[in-house]
This record gives sequence, structure tokens and C-alpha cells, in this order.
Amino acid sequence: MRLAPSILSADFAKLGDQVAEVEAAGARQLHLDVMDGRYVQNLTFGPLVVQAVRRSTKLPLDVHLQIENADRWIDVFSDAGADMIAVHPETLHHVHHALREIRRKGKKAGIALHPSNPLAAVVEVLSEVDYVIVMSVHPGFAGQAFIPGSFGRLEQLRALVQARKLAVEIAIDGGMAVDNIRQAVKSGADVVVSGSAIFAGGDPAARVGEMLKAAGANGR
Ligand code: DX5
Ligand code: ZN
Repeated sequence: MRLAPSILSADFAKLGDQVAEVEAAGARQLHLDVMDGRYVQNLTFGPLVVQAVRRSTKLPLDVHLQIENADRWIDVFSDAGADMIAVHPETLHHVHHALREIRRKGKKAGIALHPSNPLAAVVEVLSEVDYVIVMSVHPGFAGQAFIPGSFGRLEQLRALVQARKLAVEIAIDGGMAVDNIRQAVKSGADVVVSGSAIFAGGDPAARVGEMLKAAGANGR
């Protein structure tokens, strides 16, 4: 399991330092939530921040696009330094095309699954993605409560991926903390995204250590 801190809850005045702290503590990926105030009711950051994070770490950067017309931004976020780009299928006219474009840029292509979107939304494109983000809160904000039932969706998706023998990684995103990370791993998560549980208390390195311990990942 890889732990992927979401910088949405970081202190942006100290972003480079906080990225270095979570990296040293054992985070193996970073999650960057791009929001446009249209697809979701929040406005976060764009390619400039992705570039700044890129300069401060070698960790893989997963850019989670919570924006309309995400396909128009694939080049921009690829060039800004993303290693992985996830799109929400309901924001796109042509999901297959967007996924192909992400791969054409040499990046890993992901689908993010809104909690009210049935698993069927990803099944059709499962052979064309490198990863799926199962959202366990409604997209838009950090610090929301985990939606019960999300682990069941994760398990179903894991079973589907296994049955088809696909090399698709599964991430869970939203409301993940020290008390539920173990269950995420048991349910089949390859990646656990966590924002407020890591950054809100002011000691992100300590929180990363606790979460990895609780996950049984031994700092991996
Ligand atoms: C929500 C974002 C999540 C969020 C997670 O729209 O996609 O990645 O940052 O934050 P927590 O871990 O606080 O739920
Ligand atoms: Zn996210």
C-alpha cells in the first residue's frame, strides 16, 4: 500500500517543507486536487502549484482533476509535472479519448469514481486505465466524513480487476484516517489518499508514521 498525502490540507505557505516532511516519513505518492468551482463548489489551484510541488519532490504526483472539460487540460498538467492524471467520466464527452491523451503524454491514466456514480461507470473503460480512484466523500472539500459503504465498492472493484487479470491500481480518497486505513488495505486499496488527517494537526510526519503503522505497512 502506498500512502498519498493530499496537499489540499497542507499549509501552502510552507508547502515545500511539508512535502519534504511527508516524503521523509514514508509517503510514496502525492495527491493534488485541482478544482474549478464548476464541477465542484470549490476552487483550489492550477498548474503553477503542480509545477512548484514538482520542483520540491521526486515522488509521483497524482493530479486529480475535479473540473469540467478535463480533456482540455491534460497537456497543461502533464507539462506541469504530473505523473498520473485522473478524470471524472461525467465531466467528459469522450472518456476514451481523454484516457488515450493522458497515456499519449506518457502519464498514467486514471478514472475517479464519484460516490454516487455506479461502478459501471468505470467497468467500460477498465482495460484503458492504469488506476481508479474510488471516492469515499463527495468531491469538493477535504475534511468530510467517510461515506459508509465505500469499502464495499472498493472490494467489488478489486474483485472485478482480479477477475479480468488487469494491472489496474485502486486508490481510495476521502475521509481516510488512522482508524480506517487498515480496513482500506484489507478491502484491496493499493493507494490510500489522506488530506486533513495528515496535515490538519500541524505535524504531518508524525501522522504519516501513525497511518503507516496502523495500515500494517511497516513504513513501506
Ligand atoms: C476531495 C478530494 C480529496 C480530499 C481528501 O474532493 O478529492 O482528495 O483532499 O481529503 P480528506 O482526506 O481530508 O478527506
Ligand atoms: Zn482527490
